[in-house]
Amino acid sequence: MEQQLRNLTEAMFEIKKICCIGAGYVGGPTCSVIAHMCPKIHITVVDVNQARIEAWNSNTLPIYEPGLKEVVELCRGKNLFFSTDIDKAIQESDLIFISVNTPTKAYGMGKGRAADLKHIESCARRIVAVSNGYKIVTEKSTVPVRAAESIRRIFQSNIKPDLNLQVLSNPEFLAEGTAVNDLKNPDRVLIGGDDTPEGQEAIQALCAVYEHWVPKNKIITTNTWSSELSKLVSNAFLAQRISSINSISALCEATGADIEDVACAVGMDHRIGSKFLKASVGFGGSCFQKDVLNLVYLCEALNLPEVAQYWQQVIDMNDYQRRRFASRIIDCLFNTATDKKIALLGFAFKKDTGDTRESSSIYISKYLLDEGANLHIFDPKVRKEQIICDLSHPSIFQDASGQASRLVTICNDAYEACDGAHAIVICTEWDEFKLLDYEVIHKNMLKPAFIFDGRRVLDELHPKLQKLGFQVETIGKKITVQRIPFTPTAEVPKFSLQEPPLKKVKL
Ligand code: UDX
Ligand code: ADP
Repeated sequence: MEQQLRNLTEAMFEIKKICCIGAGYVGGPTCSVIAHMCPKIHITVVDVNQARIEAWNSNTLPIYEPGLKEVVELCRGKNLFFSTDIDKAIQESDLIFISVNTPTKAYGMGKGRAADLKHIESCARRIVAVSNGYKIVTEKSTVPVRAAESIRRIFQSNIKPDLNLQVLSNPEFLAEGTAVNDLKNPDRVLIGGDDTPEGQEAIQALCAVYEHWVPKNKIITTNTWSSELSKLVSNAFLAQRISSINSISALCEATGADIEDVACAVGMDHRIGSKFLKASVGFGGSCFQKDVLNLVYLCEALNLPEVAQYWQQVIDMNDYQRRRFASRIIDCLFNTATDKKIALLGFAFKKDTGDTRESSSIYISKYLLDEGANLHIFDPKVRKEQIICDLSHPSIFQDASGQASRLVTICNDAYEACDGAHAIVICTEWDEFKLLDYEVIHKNMLKPAFIFDGRRVLDELHPKLQKLGFQVETIGKKITVQRIPFTPTAEVPKFSLQEPPLKKVKL
């Protein structure tokens, strides 16, 4: 391998074996699709979490993603393997993807804003400790700008005579729920590397992997920093569009305008485009908040306070939208939710995933729990234990018992959740919520029966629902009854739920 590297001009380095460290939402689907599209490449996905690896090797994959199970079943045991033997997979590989989690720091300097790179660092140290020969090490996880530089420094400080590690940035742009399609038909593949002959050679070797199925004009190459920054900025722009439309949804609710009409009219301008203009209870997921906060932190660190403040507003607007929706529910329920049964439909941060990271449902639940509501929650794909775990986080449920389960019931279906409820709150846009028998549901609810549609999933059913006797309140549409404004006192905590905070946040 060393020899191949030295004679760069003679033969291009060919990637035959890939090791992916991190078998999560990014590593698992990405490597499954690469294995499917490149049958001659041998791929091993490794993780420290044995239960996760066992699940990848079973009939029940650890994550729900439409179409993923089929791809895994086609390739697993042929050219796709899941293992906890990390060192062996590193040693045998030509290319290593680092796909470990990079949550927002929950402690120390940059707490609540900077990304925590401890997992990346631990991978870098392990790679350099156990490797020999030539390897391309590629950061796939979303990382702050200059993370590749940190990886390089760890490599350079621990270099051995027979070792040559090239570092690339190849951020992943898949969205959960559509990951398989996004990976098979990407808008672009971005690869960043060193502007040296060796760096360019490594870039070309990785390009060759993607060229198995991605048209060449969609594979773009840049320097490492541009690649890292482009990923952060892509997510920041997407999040910004949602905060922009959500800010206008508040205006629509205060006037006679309808946010869906406004979004349609605005989006028909091809310079603006129609995607990502869906008003909602606020964006969730593991990336948007983390990446915007990361951008804010970067700008502050580079002494660009005005730029930092500009992007901070994207997060503030998202927090406001969640708070505003919760306060609207409480207003409508005659200003009190205490001891009222509320059916919360949808807990995942979007449809077609079981992922709850930073889901707006968590924050809406928090506000309702603070008011003493009894929540009856149903989500088609989120596990009961996950919901209880999210809501028992000290920043969410502040009761002395620390057990959210006292006020929270997890239901097996939507009918059970709605039975005897005062109100239905829709937080995730699952298609099946459009197909429920609302006549039966209405019959079994307390009257007046409310529906709060935080996702505009029931728009087409509004006339029918109103005829049945429901009071329907929907994001971005004028409020239907006179109400006394209610303002929640609690502030949304500014740190991620992915890791426990060091101390209880006083709200
Ligand atoms: C995002 C990026 O889209 C993806 O490119 C990147 O690789 C990872 O982060 P993801 O978080 O999986 O993907 O899902 P996405 O579809 O972007 O949705 C994020 C959140 O925004 C969800 O809560 C979703 O419901 C919300 N959203 C999205 C809206 O509220 N309105 C919209 O118009 C679009
Ligand atoms: P993402 O959404 O970025 O894929 P996940 O949390 O779903 O994040 O997955 C990241 C995975 O990385 C987890 O399964 C975690 O156990 C794994 N991981 C974290 N650190 C290491 C490490 N040092 N070595 C191997 N696996 C790791």
